[in-house]
Amino acid sequence: CGIVGYVGARPAIAVVNEGLRRLEYRGYDSAGVALIDGDVVITEKRAGKLANLEEAVTARGGLTGPTTGIGHTRWATHGQPNDRNAHPHVSVDGRTAVIHNGIIENFVQLRGELEAEGIEFSSDTDTECVAHLLSAELRRTDDLAEAMRVVCRRLQGAFTLLAVDAAHPDVVVGARRNSPLVAGIGDGEYFLASDVAAFISHTRSAVELGQDQVVTIDASGLTITDFDGDPAEGKPFDVDWDASAAEKDGYEYFMLKEIEEQPRAVADTLRGRFTVGGEITLDEVRMSDQDFRDVDKVFIVACGTSYHAGMVAKYAIEHWVRLPCEVELASEFRYRDPVLDRSTLVIVISQSGETMDTLMALRHAKNQKARILAITNTVGSTIPRESDAVLYTRAGIEVAVASTKAFLTQLVACYLVGLHLASVRGIKYADEVAAVLTELATVPDMIQKVLGEMEPVRLLARHMENADRALFIGRHVGFPIALEGALKLKELAYMHAEGFAAGELKHGPISLIDDGTPVVVVVPSPRGRSLLHDKVVSNIQEVKARGATVIAIAEEGDVVVPPHVDHTVFLPRVSTLLAPLLTAVPMQVFACELAAAKGHDIDQPRNLAKSVTVE
Ligand code: G6P
Repeated sequence: CGIVGYVGARPAIAVVNEGLRRLEYRGYDSAGVALIDGDVVITEKRAGKLANLEEAVTARGGLTGPTTGIGHTRWATHGQPNDRNAHPHVSVDGRTAVIHNGIIENFVQLRGELEAEGIEFSSDTDTECVAHLLSAELRRTDDLAEAMRVVCRRLQGAFTLLAVDAAHPDVVVGARRNSPLVAGIGDGEYFLASDVAAFISHTRSAVELGQDQVVTIDASGLTITDFDGDPAEGKPFDVDWDASAAEKDGYEYFMLKEIEEQPRAVADTLRGRFTVGGEITLDEVRMSDQDFRDVDKVFIVACGTSYHAGMVAKYAIEHWVRLPCEVELASEFRYRDPVLDRSTLVIVISQSGETMDTLMALRHAKNQKARILAITNTVGSTIPRESDAVLYTRAGIEVAVASTKAFLTQLVACYLVGLHLASVRGIKYADEVAAVLTELATVPDMIQKVLGEMEPVRLLARHMENADRALFIGRHVGFPIALEGALKLKELAYMHAEGFAAGELKHGPISLIDDGTPVVVVVPSPRGRSLLHDKVVSNIQEVKARGATVIAIAEEGDVVVPPHVDHTVFLPRVSTLLAPLLTAVPMQVFACELAAAKGHDIDQPRNLAKSVTVE
């Protein structure tokens, strides 16, 4: 969910709505606002997209009077995404309003207690109990922050909460545990939000709230305490994201814009980060070179698209660093009791830096004394704060739910981490590492070239508008890209798409193939590792013999593949391990165009959220 709060001199509704628009990628099942007008709390909330809320607000005359307010855009956990369950939730007397991101795990017990006291609930959410608890507390104290602290001490689970109260006209109070919250400091105005995207057009000056902190914003500024009321400090930082990254700039969808931004994002992620000798600069390092030398095993943990970046990284790290490297889905990792100790390096990859599954995996690894290195796109988020070392991807704000430029920059960051490990530990393939760095620097231009040649891919996608399934196969680093291609199609086109290791096809999935089944094949370079190429050509023949329509993504100059397939998309020559930086691009364009042909919402596919802060 996305949350935003404002105290200042401007109409709060304008600031809050703009913030919600920028946070809508965090969830879009419903949206709502609470504003303080004199000594009255006004709320408005609606199921569905933000536009529904905006319509309702317009119908009430725009609500432009109040200058203090909070707003919420929801990704439903408890209760259906209807008007009733939309946030804010309000106390019985209508004077205290609360919005929430996360899950309150002891809400059944709290709700039971409140109902026993005679309170009637008007929603199915876990959040509503906070409004009632706060209201009860405010009968004992007239300090909203103190009331919030008392309530937070009773809550279990993950939450970011914002509250306003009719008796405290120019105050917004926030609290956080295990869910994100940042504050923005403007000129006589203050902001609270799930992430800086919400207030990026108003201020660059931000403060990251720590775990178990309560923050108050009012005319006098920003006050932070811990849950016991002792003064606490947040971590100030400057936002260097380009505000225009949060605008469509004439593109029909953010995703199209973000695909086009990839050459720049990759170049930015590389800029100034390595010496010719192969020394890589990490952004925040609370680990010594000796710590890196002591590593005897690497785990990579992530979710969704970030997990696919991790799968590619495994090939690179094992090859360059000669360390065993395992990749695992964050949601599985900690539950199977992985073997970790102080000489294990756990690399967590997360665009948002907030994914709860990934955060919990990180904490589990930390408890087992493993070292944590984060690759993330979001300064001020939780995952880098809790890690021992951080490398930021510099993709800029990614708004479309389906990740594109963040993915490519994650790949780049993974390569840099691999090369860093190799250089700190003594380079096994010194020549190769130097060559990789030189080649990486040329990749942005190659991506630009690929982007310029995507019309046939778009045409192909439009032809497949009525297809209801597709298979993706690849070997080596082509395998994770096959998985990513399939994921993109699932996310955007709502098609049943599966990715397989090409060699595994014959052990089962080949039975799925009949006349006309679309199969997208990531073909390795015919040079160098030609054994791999030969094997994939055999796999192509196997599916072709069973009637598949084959689309090959191959290297320019590959003369072997085209006669065996129906369509070939050629990409520039690049070394095998770096190829995913190029092969991912037609996958993105294909899924985006196919979904557009089907008339789907490209930036906000159904049921998804970009940042999932529940487990
Ligand atoms: C969500 C998004 C995916 C994303 C995954 C991991 O499920 O819908 O697109 O890949 O989270 O997100 P992260 O921010 O941790 O990279």
